[in-house]
Amino acid sequence: MKLWGGRFTEETNDLVNAFNASISFDKRFYKQDITGSIAHVTMLCKQGILTEEERDSIIKGLESILADIDSGALEIDDSCEDIHSFVEAELTSRVGECGKKLHTGRSRNDQVALDMRLYTRDEIIETGNCIKGVLVTLQRIMRENTETYMPGFTHLQKAQPLTLAHHFAAYFEMFLRDYSRLSDLYERMNYCPLGAGALAGTTYPLDRSYVAKLLGFEGETRNSMDSVSDRDYVVEFLSDLSIIMMHLSRFCEEIIIWNTDEYRFIELDDTYSTGSSIMPQKKNPDIAELIRGKTGRVYGALVSMLTVLKGLPLAYNKDMQEDKELTFDAIDTAKGCLTLFNGMLEAMKFNRERMAKSALGGFTNATDAADYLVKKGIPFRDAHGIIGRLVLYCIEKGCALDDLAPKEFKQFSEAFDTDIYDAISLETCVKKRNTAGAPGPEAINRYLDSNDIILSKL
Ligand code: ARG
Repeated sequence: MKLWGGRFTEETNDLVNAFNASISFDKRFYKQDITGSIAHVTMLCKQGILTEEERDSIIKGLESILADIDSGALEIDDSCEDIHSFVEAELTSRVGECGKKLHTGRSRNDQVALDMRLYTRDEIIETGNCIKGVLVTLQRIMRENTETYMPGFTHLQKAQPLTLAHHFAAYFEMFLRDYSRLSDLYERMNYCPLGAGALAGTTYPLDRSYVAKLLGFEGETRNSMDSVSDRDYVVEFLSDLSIIMMHLSRFCEEIIIWNTDEYRFIELDDTYSTGSSIMPQKKNPDIAELIRGKTGRVYGALVSMLTVLKGLPLAYNKDMQEDKELTFDAIDTAKGCLTLFNGMLEAMKFNRERMAKSALGGFTNATDAADYLVKKGIPFRDAHGIIGRLVLYCIEKGCALDDLAPKEFKQFSEAFDTDIYDAISLETCVKKRNTAGAPGPEAINRYLDSNDIILSKL
């Protein structure tokens, strides 16, 4: 059944019907559509636009449709134009004439704007919960690894020693920001567009703030044209999801590198790895690679949505129907990736000896050696030069700074004493760094304690 046959004399071309229809994808928010309709009808009755009998009969019908779709007893008919037409047609066939009053004072434009907001709102919460799962896993791993030494890198070259806890804390911060971005978005988007009509409101005495309250919104939107044409919250959500994917992708890249035979910092669990059809020895990090790959797909959704909206005149335009498939796909992708990533992380094993050994190489204590000379009264720039020459000497000799004899140190500067060994040991290099945000044990324990409080409030 079409909602708009009256002014037409001929049937729509079949290809046009197929091209125009959105039921194949908007059936996903049947629940939101029915919930919105129940609130609308409740308000219509409160305002004296529908009788109590009409309201009760419509609500009963809508609830039975919802229950039947949920249970699988009712299949959504793909020959309808969209989920809104389907629900209305099914309602009328169940409750008779009064079903036709459901759409009083409403347009599909404000109806779809409402459905999309309700759906997005739920998914913002769901995505936040997925992020919380990753944060909890990271916190557990960090607690267990405050003394797991490893090299920190810049340019993928060994730079200074730190700990696994400290390295993962950087990702904790990224995901925490992602969570807070979603909370900001929730607050900004939690306003109800219903009652905007097609674009110009309606002459019925609707109580918009009452509907908003029934549906758990903070209030109603403030301009009817904007209400039906605003998809900013979709763009924002896609942008938040893109940033989440970017963080996941960076993390996955490190996991892939750390899992190579050259690094062997970690071992992925068998349950989160895959094999090769030809090379029997292989154990591949496919999950991490797929997450990295799927990042492009979510970025694509963001750029598509921005492009769909660019240049749209006010108010509703059919272009906006394109918001759904790409948003649904991006949400499914990001939530799926967060869930898989969390599972992979939970089961990951850390090769602590290997990490510490790697931190001992690559002159990661060179900065501390220079700082040692500064403490002995040598200006930093001179100290930098002395240690640079020492490093070159060690490279030629094929050893680490710690391996040099006291007299070798002395050849480069009289300021060196036997306390140099303690000053540049791996433990000292990490343990002395206790400024806020640094890897030292005092700093990281303070950090982890504050995370416990943060996590308890999420
Ligand atoms: N399927 C449409 C959408 O997703 C519903 C709104 C239709 N409104 C209209 N005036 N044709 O945007």
